[in-house]
Amino acid sequence: MADKDGLKTAKDYHTDTPFAAQGDFHVKGANHLDWGMKKHLSNIFDRDTGKTVMFAFDHGYFMGGTAGLERLDLVIPPLAPYVDVFMATRGALRTCVPASSGCGVALRVTSGSSMLDDDLSHEVVAVDIEDAIRMNADCMAVQTFIGADGQLSSLNNLSRVINAGFRYSIPTLGVVAVGKDMERTDRFFKLATRILAELGVQIVKTYYCDHFEEIVSACPVPIVVAGGKKLPEEEALTLAYRCIQGGACGVDMGRNIFQSNHPVVMAQAVRKIVHEGWTDKEAYRFYQDMSH
Ligand code: R5P
Repeated sequence: MADKDGLKTAKDYHTDTPFAAQGDFHVKGANHLDWGMKKHLSNIFDRDTGKTVMFAFDHGYFMGGTAGLERLDLVIPPLAPYVDVFMATRGALRTCVPASSGCGVALRVTSGSSMLDDDLSHEVVAVDIEDAIRMNADCMAVQTFIGADGQLSSLNNLSRVINAGFRYSIPTLGVVAVGKDMERTDRFFKLATRILAELGVQIVKTYYCDHFEEIVSACPVPIVVAGGKKLPEEEALTLAYRCIQGGACGVDMGRNIFQSNHPVVMAQAVRKIVHEGWTDKEAYRFYQDMSH
């Protein structure tokens, strides 16, 4: 293991230089993967834009029912035409989401904590690879806790899921968790995203922060950005715009869509930023016009 002392500060991110190993496949870092992996990644990332609108409603896996998700059966289906991927638990998907929705699936496969715990960083792999195959999941989402008490077990979970995913050509989405004791700095996100990518995930989900474009440059797989807590719609659209401008390959928004007063319009507005090159201001005008 390299000596931790006297480390030089990383600085050569070449943020203006495109990823050099893209080849002819539209998903970053995936050019050397096999056909099955590429097929799943193509169900997630649009072939024309290379981007994705993921919609996260997996909150119930540790929060139970939360505001905006009281009735999954009513809230989720109308959003399907406007998002590319549903990120959810198998329980939510099987009970409340029509298999004919047309959306890709990012299946939450870890669990083990609840809102009643002080420390949320201890999880297990709760879904067998066979069930991910049965559900035709396009990727398996694993929560990771770099720098937290549960770091070792969460990286063990992640590695086991990645290994199973490679056996059956199902990509793994590594989710960077932030908790009360974990930083939200570019230093932390550079560390966490790179650890996940080097362990073998095909997609990383993380948060937006200053110097985001350096995090993207140093991460050899696509980054999708979590929405985080509910913001006013205008600010949430600015966040989405900054992420895409900074090189994110999409967003994975939950509360900023399902807790909006107009979730369907909000999903449409986010989609225009991600796939159609709209600015945050244009998207917000659209949101205002359509929500009256
Ligand atoms: C990460 O912990 C889970 O995937 C969350 O449920 C998801 O990231 C939450 O999305 P948002 O922060 O946009 O509500």
